[in-house]
Amino acid sequence: MTGTQAPGSGPERVIAIRGLHKAFGEHEVLRGFDLDVFRGENVMVLGKSGSGKSVLIKCVVRLLMPDAGSIEVLGRDILSLDQEELDQLRVKIGFLFQSSALYDSMTVQENLEFPLRRHWVATTRAERDALVEEVLTAVGLAHTRAMYPSELSGGMKRRIGLARTLILKPEIVLYDEPTTGLDPITGKEIVELILELQRTYNTSSIIISHDLNVAKLAANRVAVLYEGRNHIEGSYEQLMASDDPIVKQFFIFM
Ligand SMILES: Nc1ncnc2c1ncn2[C@@H]1O[C@H](COP(=O)(O)OP(=O)(O)OP(=O)(O)O)[C@@H](O)[C@H]1O
Ligand SMILES: [Mg+2]
Repeated sequence: MTGTQAPGSGPERVIAIRGLHKAFGEHEVLRGFDLDVFRGENVMVLGKSGSGKSVLIKCVVRLLMPDAGSIEVLGRDILSLDQEELDQLRVKIGFLFQSSALYDSMTVQENLEFPLRRHWVATTRAERDALVEEVLTAVGLAHTRAMYPSELSGGMKRRIGLARTLILKPEIVLYDEPTTGLDPITGKEIVELILELQRTYNTSSIIISHDLNVAKLAANRVAVLYEGRNHIEGSYEQLMASDDPIVKQFFIFM
C-alpha cells in the first residue's frame, strides 16, 4: 500500500498539501494553502475565476514548482523527487485538463494510446487495443474509436479526455473544470461518469470547479479557495448551511 497512515487510526491519506505558496512576480496566488485527500474521496476545490485553482493542481503534479510549502502524494514528497521518480509517480496521477486537450490530427484510438506510448505501458498492439476498448466502454463511447476530435461534440470530447486520463489506471485523478462549457444535462452526465469511475477504479480525486452540481452530486468534501488559502471546508450540506459571508457568495445561487 502506498500513502501515509497514522498507526492504527483513520483512512489512508493520499495527498497532503501544507502551507503552499506560489507567486508570479508580485502576484501572490497561493498564500499558505492546506488540503488533505483520503483514499477513495472526491474533494472539490471551489474558488472564483483567477483564484489559483489550476495553479494548485499543477503544483500537485509539479507542472509548476511552488515557492514554499510541502506536497506529499502517495507518501512521496513530490517536490524533492528527481525526474525519473517524478515520471514514475505521475503514471499514478491522471490529469484532466481544463480543455480536453485532444490532438486534432489523431483519431480517438491514437489519442488514447498516447499516454501508453509515452509511459511504455501495454507495448503490444493487442494490449493497447484491449485498454482502449475498456476505457471507451467505461465512458460509453466504444463506437468512436476511428473518429477524429472534430467529429465529436463538446460532451463527447470531455468523455474521451476522461478515457485518456483513465487509461493508465491512475490512483489519483485531478479534474480541472470537468463540466465547464457544457450544457447542464451533459454536465450532469459527466458528474455521473466521475462518480461511476470513482466506484469502478476506487480513485481519489481533486475536482476543481465552480459548478455547484459537482459540489452537490460528486464531492465528498468541498474546500473553498479564497485569497490563496483553504478558507473553509465541509460537506456540500454543511457549506450550504454556513453563515460565512465568503461561502454564501458561492452558494447564494442555489
Ligand atoms: N504561468 C503563469 N505565469 C504567470 N501567471 C500565471 C501563470 N499561471 C497562472 N497565473 C496567474 O495566476 C492566477 C491564478 O490562475 P489560475 O489559472 O490558477 O486561476 P483559476 O482559479 O484556475 O481560474 P479559472 O476558474 O478562470 O480557470 C491568475 O491571475 C493567472 O493569471
Ligand atoms: Mg483554472
